[in-house]
Amino acid sequence: MKTEMPITWFDIIDSTNSEAKRRISDIDKMAVFAAKFQTAGRGQRGNKWSSADGENLTFSIVLKFGKEAGVRLKASSQFALSELAALSVHSYLSGTGVEAKIKWPNDLYVRNRKICGMLIENALDGEYISSSIIGIGLNLKQKEFPPELINPTSVSIVTGQDIEPENALDDFIPHFTGRLGLVFSEDGRNRLQEEYLSALYRKDLVHQYRDCTTGEVFNGTIKGISAGGLLSVKMPDDSVKEFSFKEISYLL
Ligand code: BTN
Repeated sequence: MKTEMPITWFDIIDSTNSEAKRRISDIDKMAVFAAKFQTAGRGQRGNKWSSADGENLTFSIVLKFGKEAGVRLKASSQFALSELAALSVHSYLSGTGVEAKIKWPNDLYVRNRKICGMLIENALDGEYISSSIIGIGLNLKQKEFPPELINPTSVSIVTGQDIEPENALDDFIPHFTGRLGLVFSEDGRNRLQEEYLSALYRKDLVHQYRDCTTGEVFNGTIKGISAGGLLSVKMPDDSVKEFSFKEISYLL
């Protein structure tokens, strides 16, 4: 897979993920849509993603798969795209002096504060992925946040440096393209998984979680990630339970 990434910047757009979706049929292999300001930024679980104008990096990477793009990826390998995206931000941040951890599946946390969130929207064609829109919101210069956000932070708060969104995107891209080839082989996916586990927030530590299917709060220990990308947690009775994204919430 060639790794040129044409970048389109918008001063203002509703959501870079939505724009990527609208333009998906014009894209051959890969493209990036970035915005200084989003009027309707979308987050996980149907939440809004709010980000101050010009202060943060909000963008979407589009990857196309299939015959025309010349690469195939099975739907069963979807989690490798999450790992790829999270690890790329993780290593970009490390280069800025921010030591973050990956909060499963693909948030980036500095201690107990969120510095980056992702909304990954994959389209499937049978047992294969036909496209992936990887939307990333990385807090750079913002120092004050709306009170409804739980524990936000930014590169500026953590390190004192103000990085411009355009420069951050240019510096981020090689972290992503350098790992992209790994998703296409089993060996590469194993390497991604290994790197991901070594950066995983709360791994092997006892913390509180809520089982969203029962409402029960419990002390659990994250042990790893299943082949399908579920979170494996050691429960109080020493059994290991696998949770999907909607089934567990972290108590911070
Ligand atoms: C989350 O943590 O809830 C996910 C946030 C994802 C936000 C990014 S900003 C760029 C892209 N466009 C969107 O509308 N959402 C993603």
